[in-house]
Amino acid sequence: MDIRFQNLGPEHWKGEVLLALACQGENLPAECPALDKAVPWLTVAPGMRDFKGKSGEFALLHGHPELPVPRVLAVGLGPREKVDMQGIRKALAAAVQRCRAQGYASLLLPEPVLSRLPGGRERLVEECVCAALLALHRSDVLKKPDAEEPAPPQWLALGFDGEHVPDAAHAAARRGENTAWAVALARDLAAMPPNLLSPDHLARRARDLAREKGFSCTVLDEKDMEDLGMGCLLAVGRGSACPPRLVVLEHAPRGHEQDKPLILVGKGVTFDSGGISIKPAANMHQMKADMSGAAAVLAAVAALAQEDAPRRVIGLLACAENMPGGRAARPGDVVRAANGESVEIRNTDAEGRLALCDALIHAQKTWTPSAVVDIATLTGACAVALGPQLAGLFCRDQDLTERIRSAGGACGENFWPLPLWQPYAEDLKSEVADICHIGPREGGAINAALFLAHFVQEGVRWAHLDIAGVDWAAKGSPLAPVGPTGFGARTLLELARGGV
Ligand code: BES
Ligand code: MN
Ligand code: ZN
Repeated sequence: MDIRFQNLGPEHWKGEVLLALACQGENLPAECPALDKAVPWLTVAPGMRDFKGKSGEFALLHGHPELPVPRVLAVGLGPREKVDMQGIRKALAAAVQRCRAQGYASLLLPEPVLSRLPGGRERLVEECVCAALLALHRSDVLKKPDAEEPAPPQWLALGFDGEHVPDAAHAAARRGENTAWAVALARDLAAMPPNLLSPDHLARRARDLAREKGFSCTVLDEKDMEDLGMGCLLAVGRGSACPPRLVVLEHAPRGHEQDKPLILVGKGVTFDSGGISIKPAANMHQMKADMSGAAAVLAAVAALAQEDAPRRVIGLLACAENMPGGRAARPGDVVRAANGESVEIRNTDAEGRLALCDALIHAQKTWTPSAVVDIATLTGACAVALGPQLAGLFCRDQDLTERIRSAGGACGENFWPLPLWQPYAEDLKSEVADICHIGPREGGAINAALFLAHFVQEGVRWAHLDIAGVDWAAKGSPLAPVGPTGFGARTLLELARGGV
């Protein structure tokens, strides 16, 4: 769906359906003169009297079919004092899905209607464009098209009252488009079946995107990893016929080549069977999304390159397939991490932290980061603790914690702080190696975070995002169907845009 602008004033707006977001109990046509100019018949439309503006309420109202704007879809938001950006996103997404079901080819979203809502005009434009696009996105490239279903809308126009669309509104709409593109990419990658998205496939996708969007991409293979001593990442991939890859992305815009980079590190386990410590069969297919962290990093870096963000960002994708096999790592194995320390593997299903520790070490050896943020579907314990709407945030830096929470909150991705409780690090002691990669089941998300923290040098601003659980929607919503959510892509994008 194209995003367009109509700037000739409400009398000249066109579109098969006008989307009117309204708060409960407010008489929109009376209170918004521009809307009244665009669809003067709305005040006398019989159905409008029944429309209360309750949250989730819709009313489709018809004017004369020959008019330039022949219909209005009134969309209820609930009481004004309770309306927030997430409510607006959801309502708009649901409305756009209705329009698709009806087969409307052109949608009109009046800026004067939007601007009445809380949030600020630019934010509203950005968020509505993003929500409308995400409402139409499906990760269905492997399905044949449904012949019964009408084609999706061709365009959504933002209707402005005046000759001139402000530059800030243009920029906001472009940001919204780019954000939706990034989230859709992250979802598509995570939805990809594991036979079609191996570590090498993921690396190739990264390389293709790098060429297309103008950022750099270097792929380290097994030989390179051996030279760098990455025994942990190698151990994760050893049981698989598909070898591991460490993908290095860099967006370094002109004039920022020498800046300290923001380094994003993503867990890219393209399938997590558990390895020798194999997982139960139920829902194991969802472990194709165990590369959601890497997908979020790749999507964010690609989107930053696409909008030419004035910020140097490096992305590391720690890619491996965790499979049982003759050469697979065993519980009891001791391997060596890239910093030279020996690591005892006790449970091959705790593979994410092994893949990440070598990437974290590599990041700190190679660059002087302004901050390091890793993102991973790391522990079931985090999903159990926080449920399906909150991701775990582990960070000892107050400022970085707040920036991540506010970047996430602004885009509908919520992070909850969890403690890096140092006394528990005692439980990571090993009889045979410098460190054991797991602790007890209790406090599992904290133990995993403490294992990662062990490989982060003092003075490095670092945050760990555990997105296990939120990476996959068990219940669908207008903004995200059942399946991979692309969680994290927006927050990372927002963080880099905000200059972290
Ligand atoms: N990828 C899983 C974590 C996960 C669970 C992600 C559910 C998404 C949904 C991770 O590799 C894993 O298996 N973790 C183990 C660690 C344990 C063996 C210490 C877990 O959480 O059970
Ligand atoms: Mn696992
Ligand atoms: Zn995993």
